[in-house]
Amino acid sequence: MADKKRILSGMRPTGPLHLGNLHGALLNWIQMQDQYDCFYFIADWHALTSDYENTGKITGYVREMMIDWLSAGLSPEKSTLFVQSHIKEHAELFLLLSMITPVPWLERNPTYKDQIVQLSNKDLSTFGFLGYPVLQAADIIMYKANGVPVGIDQVPHVEITREIARRFNYLYGEVFPEPDSILTKTPKILGTDRRKMSKSYNNAIYLGDSPENIRKIVATMITDPQRARKSDPGNPEVCNVFEFHKIYSDMDTQKKINKECRSAQIGCVECKKIMAENLINALAPIREKRAYYMQQPELVEEIINTGSDKARLVAFRTMEEVRAAIKI
Ligand code: TRP
Ligand code: SF4
Repeated sequence: MADKKRILSGMRPTGPLHLGNLHGALLNWIQMQDQYDCFYFIADWHALTSDYENTGKITGYVREMMIDWLSAGLSPEKSTLFVQSHIKEHAELFLLLSMITPVPWLERNPTYKDQIVQLSNKDLSTFGFLGYPVLQAADIIMYKANGVPVGIDQVPHVEITREIARRFNYLYGEVFPEPDSILTKTPKILGTDRRKMSKSYNNAIYLGDSPENIRKIVATMITDPQRARKSDPGNPEVCNVFEFHKIYSDMDTQKKINKECRSAQIGCVECKKIMAENLINALAPIREKRAYYMQQPELVEEIINTGSDKARLVAFRTMEEVRAAIKI
């Protein structure tokens, strides 16, 4: 354990996980479990930064997110799985870091500027929303993580984390390592409408979707937009359904579809049916484990509590060092 590098990452509990989350993040997290000392947590306080008006669903989402994680293959034996709000030390470190973080660092954060525009239906002119990256920095450096596996959109936050860690070390002495972003290649699967897969676009396929639902959703997927009729040859390279085949269908099927699509021998309806069945099969183990955990709320609760206890121990020690360094 001691010589394994530590990595840490988190997700906001904004709803059940979909295939975009699975392939964009979770599968990488799962793979890293043997190689690294992994800390994975559910960032429920971060969910409040944009959803402070609607808090009723967060607890349910936290539980469901842990179930999705466990079902997909995150292991409480291999990794430390926890919930942010269970570790009050994050709030203390956030406060202390906020004392040394210059506001312009936060105001020029590209994600901040972006979100203010994109979520214009919400009032995000709050202190907490501006301070989002400071809380994230506290999450990361609390565990002295060396690496942070994230999507490209989160890289600016890891960058701010490095700057904050550097500033802390400069002011109070060397306490924190500067974490690196770990960007991994992920397949480019899109939502059913070819936009980024997202809950808010209503274009997602969820880990918990039933086979009937998956069939229905796949049937609505937009294919090669140039292909209007079955008699038109299609181009799998620009077809999102084919991207799914690349993940869920075997090589022979892929080759056959590639050829028959280009020569207009296979229609999109049939092609989608094949894909849907392979997707349903691939998700079967996750679906079964999900059903199991859904019926074991106490077990899930216990996993959350045990993981959070493990994390809290590390956080406790870090905060002792931090207070000593600051002399407070
Ligand atoms: N901001 C991240 C997201 O929206 C979630 C997050 C919170 C996080 N704290 C973190 C990710 C610490 C990595 C490390 O996806
Ligand atoms: Fe896409 Fe399949 Fe239709 Fe070709 S046949 S355009 S790969 S859905």
